Amino acid sequence: MKTTIKKSSIATLSENITTRKAKIGIIGLGYVGLPLALEIVHKGFQVIGFDKNDEKIDLLNRGQSYITDMPETIIEQAIYKEQFEPTNNFAKLGEVDVIIICVPTPTAEDGTPNISYIIEAAHTIEQNVSKDTLVILESTTYPGTTEEVVRPIIEKNNLMIGHDIFLAYSPERIDPGNRNFSVSNTPKVVGGISPYCAEVARVFYETVINTNVYTVKSPKVAEMEKLLENTFRQINIALVNEISQLCHKMDIDVWEVIDAASTKPYGFMPFTPGPGVGGHCIPVDPKYLLWAGQQHGITTTMIETADKINESMPSFVVDRLAQYVNKNLDDAEVVIIGVGYKPDVNDYRQSPALDVINILREKKCNLKIVDPFIETVVVDNWKMDTVPLTEKLILRADAVLILTNHTNINYALIDERAALIFDTRNTYFSFENKNYYKL
Ligand SMILES: NC(=O)c1ccc[n+]([C@@H]2O[C@H](COP(=O)([O-])OP(=O)(O)OC[C@H]3O[C@@H](n4cnc5c(N)ncnc54)[C@H](O)[C@@H]3O)[C@@H](O)[C@H]2O)c1
Repeated sequence: MKTTIKKSSIATLSENITTRKAKIGIIGLGYVGLPLALEIVHKGFQVIGFDKNDEKIDLLNRGQSYITDMPETIIEQAIYKEQFEPTNNFAKLGEVDVIIICVPTPTAEDGTPNISYIIEAAHTIEQNVSKDTLVILESTTYPGTTEEVVRPIIEKNNLMIGHDIFLAYSPERIDPGNRNFSVSNTPKVVGGISPYCAEVARVFYETVINTNVYTVKSPKVAEMEKLLENTFRQINIALVNEISQLCHKMDIDVWEVIDAASTKPYGFMPFTPGPGVGGHCIPVDPKYLLWAGQQHGITTTMIETADKINESMPSFVVDRLAQYVNKNLDDAEVVIIGVGYKPDVNDYRQSPALDVINILREKKCNLKIVDPFIETVVVDNWKMDTVPLTEKLILRADAVLILTNHTNINYALIDERAALIFDTRNTYFSFENKNYYKL
């Protein structure tokens, strides 16, 4: 049972939150849940972190980090001061006053939403939660999940939502690797099942973050706005990827075009082309919206088209590389720089680099992979250890292919020594190599 004073109303729960007496539970300690847990610790709360991955719980209890952005000293200190307790004992959910669900929401093989992790977490909550608790879903999902899927599971416990227990949705907006925006200075959107649910969720986030909390009328609105944010990115990236293919044919530097367009102070926002889209969000979230459209008889043509364009980029990259390398790819050695789905992160889930690697492997190209954030790259049943970037490695290669522009790469060395560079990210503005090509 809860160790805090017995509460009987939303007022007491809100007061316990603002005075930091409330204990917070985070379910799912991944790229979203772990930084969130430690930010909440930083704001003076005691946090219990729940994950069903025993390996992650062991690492955290030893003060070790598995996320590039999360320094070990922060984890060590939080554990040492007994402010953070990573555990796989879900019975402890009964001790917390606020539960935040940060579990994965991938797609199934057929591209439809897989919300099984949310359903599992909701059942675990239902079995362990006590009265007067705020439950917030942060995982990205299709509109209706909080109200139609999570609510009925939690209510099985005879707890009345909005009275005995409070349920809200608030999308996570964390941008791993972003040095300007973190959990604490990124505004939050909140939608509650009832006005009380929204109110207590707003109080919670206003206590935890240093910027605005924007309340919408329902969880559905908040779920939809998150899908809009990421679909907006997916479609704009596809647009610029298509323009880059056209620019190539017309012998126009797409990067110069984007720079020029960016001088317009209104009505234009720059997006950059690349070898495709990756990570847990941009290739996945629009598919949730596409599926939601299908359930309502709407064909979301723009999402499908954007998907096709982004998915065509790895082949476009390999075709261009083949044109520049002066021999058959099965006879060539190519050094790939960067596999992470974005710069300076170790997350390479659904990274377009994996598709490029697969195509190059099919073409029997001899590959070497450099990525200072990743030790071993695993693609389906194939794995390859990454190697350090050395002069010898570059000199031996027929081409250096830059797929992710990590900042801690010696680009000057590549510029000086590579026989050929194909740069899909417009990485290093001062490349002088005579065989330097950009996407
Ligand atoms: N990664 C991002 O940059 C990002 C940004 C914004 C939103 N999101 C969304 O946040 C959610 C989480 O993404 P992530 O990248 O942190 O995923 P992740 O895979 O890194 O972490 C999820 C964690 O949840 C754990 N887990 C799964 N089911 C569980 C259960 N039933 N009980 C306890 N733990 C469980 C897993 O073991 C894992 O450690 C997704 O919906 C994603 O779309 C992610």
